[in-house]
Amino acid sequence: MKRVLSGIQPSGQLHLGNYFGMMSRMIHYQEENDLYCFIVNYHAMTSMQDGASLKENTMSAAMDFLSLGMDPEKSTFWVQSDIPQVAELTWILSVVTSVGLMERGTSYKDKLAKGLKANMGLFSYPILMAADILLFGGEIVPVGKDQKQHLEMTRDIAIRFNQTFGDVLIVPAPDIDKDTQLIPGLDGQKMSKSYNNTIPIFGSDKVIQEKVMSIVTDSSGVNEVKNTDCTLFKIFCLFLDENGKLELADKFQTPGTGYGEIKKELFSTIMKHFKLFRQKRDYYEQHQDQVHDILKQGAEKASAVAETFLTPVRDVTGLNYKA
Ligand code: TRP
Repeated sequence: MKRVLSGIQPSGQLHLGNYFGMMSRMIHYQEENDLYCFIVNYHAMTSMQDGASLKENTMSAAMDFLSLGMDPEKSTFWVQSDIPQVAELTWILSVVTSVGLMERGTSYKDKLAKGLKANMGLFSYPILMAADILLFGGEIVPVGKDQKQHLEMTRDIAIRFNQTFGDVLIVPAPDIDKDTQLIPGLDGQKMSKSYNNTIPIFGSDKVIQEKVMSIVTDSSGVNEVKNTDCTLFKIFCLFLDENGKLELADKFQTPGTGYGEIKKELFSTIMKHFKLFRQKRDYYEQHQDQVHDILKQGAEKASAVAETFLTPVRDVTGLNYKA
């Protein structure tokens, strides 16, 4: 059993793109692996400094994950800042990390280009991420392509640490899913909060319906043959097995069914698919104390593991001056 580890940004309302792109994959991991998954609220602070929003988004991400199937019995699930030792390890790693390595960070440069302030947290974001992974001995780290460089940096930092002080850190392997499909949004671009083209999973029925009805289609009429190479078809297929996809293709290719009707079917398919998840989400919303308990237990489990990795680090670096 491998230790699979990943952090998730608490970045607001969850949508189909997050779900099919990454969450369902994470949740599957817990069946056969030792899954460590946490909400990276320290990371979120690098680009958003608003206490009330951070608090809200953190709880919301926790409730989303738990509702979608994260099982605290099978995995270790916590909030990053509940294990402050990660900040200690970040500091220690920062002394073996060259400024040049951080300066080559493409994600950092992209964020500046988008207008984010160049604060030190944003700059050393990859060191905190390295600490996240190394503090728990993560062996496999499932991330999207955009995080590949951060993972290479983690490996560089771990190797450098081991060479400098002694071989105590586990060098992780990336697990980049080549076929994580690009989930199209309402307008056909990648589904993303920043393009405002998402379909939220836990929005109200009305909002979800409005979003589905606004998926952009061409002007083919009811009695025309429709092209399956389109956003509506692709989004619908996320919910269908092979047979269902053939039937849908048939519907597109046989005159008689309009886009409006197909969108209504998609809407009810989405509602059916997420029905139990949505009920669970409502439950947690009403019982947030239970969510706090789950996170507390997760943090206790994670903290014990963190100590087993941090103790040798303190020893080889000389921080543990009493031993
Ligand atoms: N940087 C990652 C992202 O934006 C989130 C993250 C933080 C992470 N720490 C991690 C991912 C550790 C994997 C492992 O998606």
